Amino acid sequence: MACVLLFGRLLPFSHRLRGTSICLLSLFLSYLFYCALFPDGAIMQTSGDPTPSCQRADGAKRRLQKSLSCLLPSDARLSAVEASRLKADQRPHFAHHTAGNGTPSPPMSNLKFGNKKLPNAIIVGVKKGGTRAVLEFIRIHPDVRAAGTETHFFDRNYDRGLDWYRGLMPRTLESQITMEKTPSYFVTKETPHRIYTMSQDTKLIVVVRDPVTRAISDYTQTLSKTPDLPSFQDLAFRNQSLGIVDMSWNAIRIGLYALHLENWLRYFPLAQIHFVSGERLITDPAGEMARVQDFLGLKRIVTDKHFYFNRTKGFPCLKKPESSGSPRCLGKSKGRTHVQIDRDAIEQLRDFYRPYNVKFYEMVGHDFKWE
Ligand SMILES: *[C@@H]1O[C@H](CO)[C@@H](O)[C@H](O)[C@H]1NC(C)=O
Ligand SMILES: *[C@@H]1O[C@H](CO)[C@@H](O)[C@H](O)[C@H]1NC(C)=O
Repeated sequence: MACVLLFGRLLPFSHRLRGTSICLLSLFLSYLFYCALFPDGAIMQTSGDPTPSCQRADGAKRRLQKSLSCLLPSDARLSAVEASRLKADQRPHFAHHTAGNGTPSPPMSNLKFGNKKLPNAIIVGVKKGGTRAVLEFIRIHPDVRAAGTETHFFDRNYDRGLDWYRGLMPRTLESQITMEKTPSYFVTKETPHRIYTMSQDTKLIVVVRDPVTRAISDYTQTLSKTPDLPSFQDLAFRNQSLGIVDMSWNAIRIGLYALHLENWLRYFPLAQIHFVSGERLITDPAGEMARVQDFLGLKRIVTDKHFYFNRTKGFPCLKKPESSGSPRCLGKSKGRTHVQIDRDAIEQLRDFYRPYNVKFYEMVGHDFKWE
């Protein structure tokens, strides 16, 4: 029954696709795949989702993928990648994980149709600190599921409301933690209060890194997209010979961790905020991830056996990437030609940040040992 209806839905899409024979063949194969995946007709369960994802995405490149994802009502959808990932990946984890505490493994049907929940934990910052790496590392854990993209809900999209936000989250089982990461939250004034309004129990993770290297990394990234950018020095200083730093430049402002943190501590106790060292994430990823798992109340499942150190690259990589075939490493952009910043400018910036860093160490009770 479901398969017949599905086939009916398929036909209109075929008109839109170029290279029709190939597309029709792949659509037909996917139709067979979905029918095999959802033999009980669950695929046709009603959606009731107010934002049909079929109309959101565009771009001819993704048309085939889009039309396939539209086949499944968005509320009951599980991408083929996710489905196979759950089969190939989560299940053994569950078996492994539940062996300890004796609760039975949930049946596959639960995995298909969990609920979307607002996040329990959010990686709120900072840009160029290593937030993507922390998210990729923590989502190896079978009890964590995360939104794939940065939602920017609490800064840019707050007007869309919590239901919209929830809609971006992956389906989870009762026992699983929902997470997202948007690095700009940490430096956005309104965000702490807004997250507090959603839930005052939200756990917050901040990946921090030496503000000088962070600023240079930030600038390097912007430069790669905007080649005619003024020089780093021109942007960082209002008057370099006088050593006057331009604190309004975002690349500088983001590194004033103590100032931003004050804003968060008006709403959240320090114990509810976990700081990951961006530097130690590189030298000891398993150690940093152990602390993250402890903070989230998770069993330590992500350990050093998930990482290997690539000596050529000088960075740790994940042994078993979640969704791609190639290894996932920190320092992806290390191949980028780094901008040469003169020694004097770096020294001036170190002097500038030092008091803020010291204040930050005192606030969080940890010395990150930035120069
Ligand atoms: C920086 O300050 C010095 C000393 O006051 C002044 O001579 C110079 O013109 C200033 N440079 C700029 C770019 O404003
Ligand atoms: C290590 O990194 C280098 C340089 O990026 C890369 O060419 C190589 O394939 C990597 N080796 C492994 C085992 O990941």
